[in-house]
Amino acid sequence: MHPLTISQALATAFRDIDRIDARLLLQHVLDADHAFLLTHPDRILTAQQSDEFSNLMQRRMEGVPVAYLTGERDFYDLTLKVNEAVLIPRPETELLVELALQLIPPDQSRRILDLGTGSGAIAITIAKHRPKCEVTAVDLSPAAIAVCQSNAQNLHIQNLQLVTGSWFDELSGEKFDLIVSNPPYVADNDPHLQQGDLRFEPAMALSAGDNGLSCIHQIINKAPDHLVNSGWLLLEHGYDQAAACGQLLQEKDFSNICSHPDLAGIMRVSGGQLNFLL
Ligand SMILES: C[S@@+](CC[C@H](N)C(=O)[O-])C[C@H]1O[C@@H](n2cnc3c(N)ncnc32)[C@H](O)[C@@H]1O
Repeated sequence: MHPLTISQALATAFRDIDRIDARLLLQHVLDADHAFLLTHPDRILTAQQSDEFSNLMQRRMEGVPVAYLTGERDFYDLTLKVNEAVLIPRPETELLVELALQLIPPDQSRRILDLGTGSGAIAITIAKHRPKCEVTAVDLSPAAIAVCQSNAQNLHIQNLQLVTGSWFDELSGEKFDLIVSNPPYVADNDPHLQQGDLRFEPAMALSAGDNGLSCIHQIINKAPDHLVNSGWLLLEHGYDQAAACGQLLQEKDFSNICSHPDLAGIMRVSGGQLNFLL
């Protein structure tokens, strides 16, 4: 194949894959940013760069998510390493982080728990923005915990403790001021699991029983044992699960129950406060 310039490589790629995907893959191969591509259209790719780009293009055409091909994804104000062991962090989840940060005064020390941390997107972002807080992050998958650990190290996060285990199982007697979670919430028979990026993501990060509510149910049931008085629980959930979450929170005597819309106006995060009768 003739040597290709940056603009020729992109023009070829645009015929087969999404433009942003093509750009991200070429940036990855060249270890460059978008501005470099724009300002160096005539730069010639080496044979090795051309081969690598063409391999990545091929795998993208087979459906492999861009984040798994580049090994990273931007989330909030961080760039996180990701691999096939973790869910690719979604922009919707930034809403959960924003709501959590609103509940934690910047100068205060609080105990915060993130259940099902995956890459650590939620736990690490909160830990970074609230350095006086102690954040605990739990995941059932040791491989996910390893990704979270490496992200925490790369980002110099000191106030994060990692726990491998199921939900609250390894946290006997521990209490938190705020519990957050983006648990699996897709119904096992949801056809979306066989489509797009979801086909390549870990089933244990996505599937949650017949109606998609089994993990949410387990978390809401046990959360009261692990919240201090006036502590909050915030959960991300599916587009049609806000009412069911509200109902479950009510059954466990949470107050100030509320749901919050994402940028598309879809209720994405629900939560409540636990006020003990003293
Ligand atoms: C939807 S992903 C969320 C990942 C990450 N928090 C995020 O928002 O990008 C759900 C995570 O829950 C974890 N998980 C599934 N079942 C679990 C369980 N019983 N206990 C703890 N974590 C679990 C999965 O391994 C996965 O990392």
